[in-house]
Amino acid sequence: MSSNRRVLCLCVSDQIESWCASFKKMAPDLDLRLWPEAPDAGRPFYVAAWNPPPGFFSGLPAPKAVFALGAGIDRLLKRDDLPVPEIPLIRLIDAGMAQQMVEYALAGVLRFQRNLDLYESQQAAGHWQPQPARSAADTRVTVLGLGRIGGVVATTLTALGYHVSGWSRQAAQLSGVDCRAGAEALEGLLGETDILVNILPSTPATRGLLNRSRLSCLPVGAGVINAGRGDQLDLGALFDLLDTGHLRGAVLDVFPEEPLRDDSSLWRHPKLLITPHVAANTLPEPSVRQVVENIRRLEAGEPVEGLVDRQLGY
Ligand code: GLV
Repeated sequence: MSSNRRVLCLCVSDQIESWCASFKKMAPDLDLRLWPEAPDAGRPFYVAAWNPPPGFFSGLPAPKAVFALGAGIDRLLKRDDLPVPEIPLIRLIDAGMAQQMVEYALAGVLRFQRNLDLYESQQAAGHWQPQPARSAADTRVTVLGLGRIGGVVATTLTALGYHVSGWSRQAAQLSGVDCRAGAEALEGLLGETDILVNILPSTPATRGLLNRSRLSCLPVGAGVINAGRGDQLDLGALFDLLDTGHLRGAVLDVFPEEPLRDDSSLWRHPKLLITPHVAANTLPEPSVRQVVENIRRLEAGEPVEGLVDRQLGY
């Protein structure tokens, strides 16, 4: 009897009860195997995982598909035990992350637009000094990455009255957003940016994108928010531009090495706000809904949402 049920091998490190409860609720027919419990030999199975331990995939036979329980799959793609390219790799699309990213980007934008960073240091010095106000309409925000998350960030900030531009690899069209595309358009756009919000995925084309020469294109006094990936931003160049006063400050959620080391000098930099990779967390319920729907589509031979192009890296 049970051998006809589809098997899903689940590997998550937190909220385990919530993941299991969501799968039981939304797919009661699914035969859920919580790693390290293995699927039965010879039975087809799916994998759903986030940052599985080294050797996870080599310890399993080939699955029917791998569901990455996150939006960015850069870490997964670097693994040497990832199943062969013929096996579909499927990532999450939004699944509640766009709303969280809007909140994070807005918090960062307000920090610079409403001078909260300056008031924080004035407070530490017991210094009462109103700063010149800047309206949302006079604040030029540029969002890098206009996919299903970045697009929502850009249009929401537009609706809140900010002057929003967006940049993406391929041309995009978003109501009220000045959309630019391609490498040649980036430097000019950076020169017209008061607050830069990076939400790009880490791909061969975006690693190292925010290097010294591009960061230097930002006008004096610009702020940077990085909620994409740590390998896209040159931290040494950022430090120099903060220390010379070219850049005003940065809000960083992602780092080349995570967690950030205890002795990292970033922790104590007065112009940085650091958060521990929490801008947009994976939420079990909407994620499970998407995985279950994609399993249905795979079984029905329909196109799935979130199929990764391993060459493009997203
Ligand atoms: C988080 O960083 C994700 O990629 O989902």
